[in-house]
Amino acid sequence: MANLRDESGSEQRNTGVAEDSLRMVSATAINDEPVSDEELRPHALDGFIGQPRLKAQLQLFLDAARKRDTAPDHILLAGPPGLGKTTLAMIVANELGVPIRITSGPAIQHAGDLASILSSLDAGEVLFIDEIHRLPRAAEELLYIAMEDFRVDVMVGKGPGASSIPLTLPRFTVVGATTREGMLPSPLRARFGFTAHLDFYPHDELEKLIERSAGVLGVVLGAGSAAELALRSRGTPRIANRLLRRVRDWAIVHDLDEVNVGDVREALALYQIDSEGLDRLDIAVLNAIVRNFNGGPVGLNNLAAMVGEESETVETVCEPYLVREGFLIRTPKGRVATPKAWKHLGLQPQDGQTADDVSNLF
Ligand SMILES: Nc1ncnc2c1ncn2[C@@H]1O[C@H](COP(=O)(O)OP(=O)(O)O)[C@@H](O)[C@H]1O
Ligand SMILES: [Mg+2]
Repeated sequence: MANLRDESGSEQRNTGVAEDSLRMVSATAINDEPVSDEELRPHALDGFIGQPRLKAQLQLFLDAARKRDTAPDHILLAGPPGLGKTTLAMIVANELGVPIRITSGPAIQHAGDLASILSSLDAGEVLFIDEIHRLPRAAEELLYIAMEDFRVDVMVGKGPGASSIPLTLPRFTVVGATTREGMLPSPLRARFGFTAHLDFYPHDELEKLIERSAGVLGVVLGAGSAAELALRSRGTPRIANRLLRRVRDWAIVHDLDEVNVGDVREALALYQIDSEGLDRLDIAVLNAIVRNFNGGPVGLNNLAAMVGEESETVETVCEPYLVREGFLIRTPKGRVATPKAWKHLGLQPQDGQTADDVSNLF
């Protein structure tokens, strides 16, 4: 396992939405999860489940660097929270057999903070910069030069007498992670030799991941239990692992030797997570559109007021999954529930009440 030196203290949550941290179905880490994430992290590319194309590309990329006996080009990992970016960064260092230095955009407040990290890197080391889109501008500029020319200009002195001394750096590899690739300035993006886009995981891959995690946690899952958990995991490994831990609690408290499908359902019902992975807030949003606004369209602010949440929470926390799973669509006139949403709530829409024909709303 690579030698860990954590510059930032702990993993930062990459959402500004406080409410999200209370949700069982949040894709960002909650409370002490960075620690439990660690326990379930695969250490080699072989143990990384799913994303076959990405794995093959990364394998080739790393093999080539090893054969050339040089630090590989810089790597950018882009994708929503909870899909394995930090895990992959650690795997890269492990596979190369080099230490990893960990920091993050928000942890670097001044360009000087970054300069001192850069100037202390050893040859071949991996520098992991989480939430790289949140680096301050001056640090970003310093980073371009360091990534391209392996050089950092160190400022000595203050005021008019200050001067900069160029310092040559050994070859190293930056692994950047971002949930907002679009927010990265293109000159920075251009300095990465390889960009990996992580995607939500299909059910069968999540099922494998849950089986692997169950093995690590010592939970015995009966037939169909992993699949049942996968359905509720919103395509996200972090959520899958969290739900599995709650199911483990259930098994411990009920003295179960094996967890069957019924146990999974009961345990997760307790947390108000339904068969599609929707939680209380998601259901409240759908109910409001369908029952209070007759299927929509309804404006975001009205909808948020109806469920007693901030508009931002509804928009950034609930809607992406509801839209992705086809429960809701956004139109210029407002949010509209789809027939799938009505059906999920056990209701039958009348003609003209659903998003079946929304062409008149655009
Ligand atoms: N492909 C994968 N295979 C196995 N475990 C995974 C995979 N992707 C993510 N995980 C697990 O999910 C959790 C969250 O992953 P992490 O790398 O921290 O996500 P991110 O940095 O993208 O938010 C970790 O416990 C990790 O072990
Ligand atoms: Mg991470």
